[in-house]
Amino acid sequence: MSITEEIQKRRTFGIISHPDAGKTTLTEKLLLFGGAIQSAGAVKSNKIKKHATSDFMDIERQRGISVATSVMAFYYKDKKINILDTPGHKDFAEDTYRTLTAVDSAIVVIDVAKGVEEQTENLVGVCKRRSTPMIVFVNKMDREGKDGFDLLDEIEGKLKMKACPLSWPIGMGQRFKGVYNIYEKKLVLYNAHGTQSEEDNIVIESLDDPILDEKVGSQLAKELREEVEMISEVYPPFDQDAYARGELNPVFFGSAINNFGVKEMLDCFVEIAPMPLPRITEERMIDPLEDKFSGFIFKIHANMDPKHRDRIAFLRICSGTFERNTNYFHVRNDKKMKFSNPTAFMAEKKSIIDEAFPGDIVGLYDSGNFKIGDAITEGEVLNFKGIPSFSPEQFRYINNADPMKSKQLNKGINQLMDEGVAQLFVMESSGRKIIGTVGALQFDVIQYRLEHEYGAKCSYEPVNFHKACWVSHEDDGKFKEFYSRRKNNIAKDKDGKYVFLAESSWSLNTVKEGHPDIVFHESSEYE
Ligand code: G4P
Repeated sequence: MSITEEIQKRRTFGIISHPDAGKTTLTEKLLLFGGAIQSAGAVKSNKIKKHATSDFMDIERQRGISVATSVMAFYYKDKKINILDTPGHKDFAEDTYRTLTAVDSAIVVIDVAKGVEEQTENLVGVCKRRSTPMIVFVNKMDREGKDGFDLLDEIEGKLKMKACPLSWPIGMGQRFKGVYNIYEKKLVLYNAHGTQSEEDNIVIESLDDPILDEKVGSQLAKELREEVEMISEVYPPFDQDAYARGELNPVFFGSAINNFGVKEMLDCFVEIAPMPLPRITEERMIDPLEDKFSGFIFKIHANMDPKHRDRIAFLRICSGTFERNTNYFHVRNDKKMKFSNPTAFMAEKKSIIDEAFPGDIVGLYDSGNFKIGDAITEGEVLNFKGIPSFSPEQFRYINNADPMKSKQLNKGINQLMDEGVAQLFVMESSGRKIIGTVGALQFDVIQYRLEHEYGAKCSYEPVNFHKACWVSHEDDGKFKEFYSRRKNNIAKDKDGKYVFLAESSWSLNTVKEGHPDIVFHESSEYE
């Protein structure tokens, strides 16, 4: 097979949702369709259990298991599908944001009863910044939930999406009869517990067909006719280009646990989802079809087991063919590197691979050389864009608790920051270091790892900051004034960029109003 064919058949995507909406269940059903796993329950170990939230070692252990399921690849209808796992646990949101930089499209799972939830909003926001094409799957239709049109309003209102229903539910909960597949003009009848067969798929030329009344009852048939007519009046028809630009979002309804509506969505997904997309670097655009290999590191997973101190760096291939035991160029370190045992992930199995193509994810064993965002090429200097840091939500001063070990502490902090465990800010006024994280759990992780991996001890002190904004300016004079008035709130991040740390959203707004010439950015990457 030519490299062009290899690239054209790849579909690399992530499933995003608020915890408990059904991401794990849906992932599992997709893998079952692809024949990548044989039984339900195989992916469950990937999920961070609710009861374990207070014990970070337990979570890390579960995360350790999840390395194997970080990428789940399978074949379906001659396409190679790479699902990148995105932790739903809020404390690992940064991990998820970064993983989303390595996908070409996403599926958003929403619980029909809960509607659009907070974490869904955050993650969709990250995808929207990159115009990632997204499909929505409304899950748990076997339960009572919100009205379909109300959900579409929420999807459009809270997620700022342009909804395009491609299937529509017939009843819900106890009365759930199935869906009408608008995309293929097909009636798909529901049997609980995933026992759908071909006879449950009824092709109907028109919704006027009396077979509809026969199958779902005249009341639901009437409702369906009215609703589908309303959809055609209110919502735009499907448009492949608009979807690919991230401007139109197909919506499907189903029940993952009952394996209902999943195949419809998967069939549509393999048809419409984009093949590996070009990637932007500071230097130029990288086309996946280019001959020369290039890729970037989007995630680093450290092994918490003291007997196996290695880390796995996850590389997204962006162009060319990646080959085992070949000399490549690590751009940031300006060094040649060779990988003797690069790993590919096939559902539950890991295996050493000889080559990989754009869209694929390869695991590289790393002894501490890599940093999130690093580029690997055949020699060209490239700096990939679109891997920003976002504002943490929790901040604490970090102090050295063992003055004899300050060198170890600094090394440890730097390496953990390179891995993306948390963000480091150094205050301009005092030179004190502040660690910013998304969840409280990371503070324990950092303390534990500094001690066990670097032999250093740290302590924390509370600090009253709740948000970080990266700042830029055009007028040096105005920045000087801002800097001298607000020095106690100004820090530098790991790349030396200025960051404003705010006590609250309210105080941030006041400062913004007081300094209209300073631009405040939500992420570290701005023009
Ligand atoms: P997550 O990865 O998004 O966090 O969610 P997960 O798939 O683990 O699903 C969360 C809960 O919702 C699970 O129940 C799961 O069985 C259930 N679920 C998923 N899809 C459906 C569906 O279509 N209908 C209904 N009724 N339930 C669904 P749990 O009791 O929390 O876990 P478990 O004991 O089943 O593992």
